[in-house]
Amino acid sequence: MPGAGFKRTAARGSFLVNTIRHWAYSMVEAAVADGTADDSIISKQINQPGISNTNLRDAVAVMYGAGVDTTVSAIINFLYAMARHPEWQERTRKEMEVILGHDHMPTMEDISRLEIFNAVWKESFRWNPPVPLGIPHVSSKEDTWKGYYIPKGTILHCNIGQSLFFVVRPPDSPPGWILRDPRIWGNDGHQFNPNRFLAGKNPTIGQLPDVSSIPFGFGRRICPGRYLAERLALQFSAAILSTYNVLPPKGEPTQFDTVFQDSVVRRPANFQCRFEPLRTSN
Ligand code: HEM
Repeated sequence: MPGAGFKRTAARGSFLVNTIRHWAYSMVEAAVADGTADDSIISKQINQPGISNTNLRDAVAVMYGAGVDTTVSAIINFLYAMARHPEWQERTRKEMEVILGHDHMPTMEDISRLEIFNAVWKESFRWNPPVPLGIPHVSSKEDTWKGYYIPKGTILHCNIGQSLFFVVRPPDSPPGWILRDPRIWGNDGHQFNPNRFLAGKNPTIGQLPDVSSIPFGFGRRICPGRYLAERLALQFSAAILSTYNVLPPKGEPTQFDTVFQDSVVRRPANFQCRFEPLRTSN
């Protein structure tokens, strides 16, 4: 039936949401019952007085739904930046070798000592934040902000990063997005340039906004998973760089073009790269 495609989309969405809700929980529930469960939030909290099993199941489903695609996209965006910028990949790896040596995977304590790696990570997060328009909010009453009238019931997005979706901006704001705004980042805001996060290269580094926070939203609904997400993504990315050379697909130039897939979460569509092992013993 022409025009009924949305029904199939809704049915698929409903199927996926229910799978997220029941699949992992049921698996761990069965494993707890037969005594083979690994350590996890569900196995620790199930059948405990503090939270009902239904609430536990749904809380974990929200963590999965909100946390997996976003965190994976942050890592993919980082790998994309590394495959396109081998010079920064090389510098980051040299820093790791000098500061950490070769005998272990980088820990969070190690990562805090890696100035170049942190600059490269921040720049990737700024350049391509995974949720560029945040999550929409609705104004509960009418408001005026800098002369811009916002009627009650308006759907509002935070213009965090680049997105293909059309965005209406307040009249005095420049074209662009918070994380590429030339008033904050200068005229090279569209370029990948980790120097802006290196104190030795950027004398005004202290005036930059907190790029570890903006991609997670604002105010009382800021992402509650941000610390977990940052730790996961940093550790994954550092582990990959300390073990593999990340290369463009075979036969592709370094500056390969990639179309970004745009929905709530943004990342390169069908992204491919090659992982070349750096050492055989680690
Ligand atoms: C790099 C990874 C992530 C990014 C970029 C991200 C980004 C965001 C953003 C922009 C929002 C909307 C905030 C607002 O309304 O102002 C949000 C909300 C939320 N995030 Fe994340 N997130 C990430 C990972 C996670 C993880 C790992 C979890 C859970 C384990 C999580 C759970 C949530 C939840 C539950 C909300 C809704 C909060 C509310 O409405 O009160 N997120 N996230």
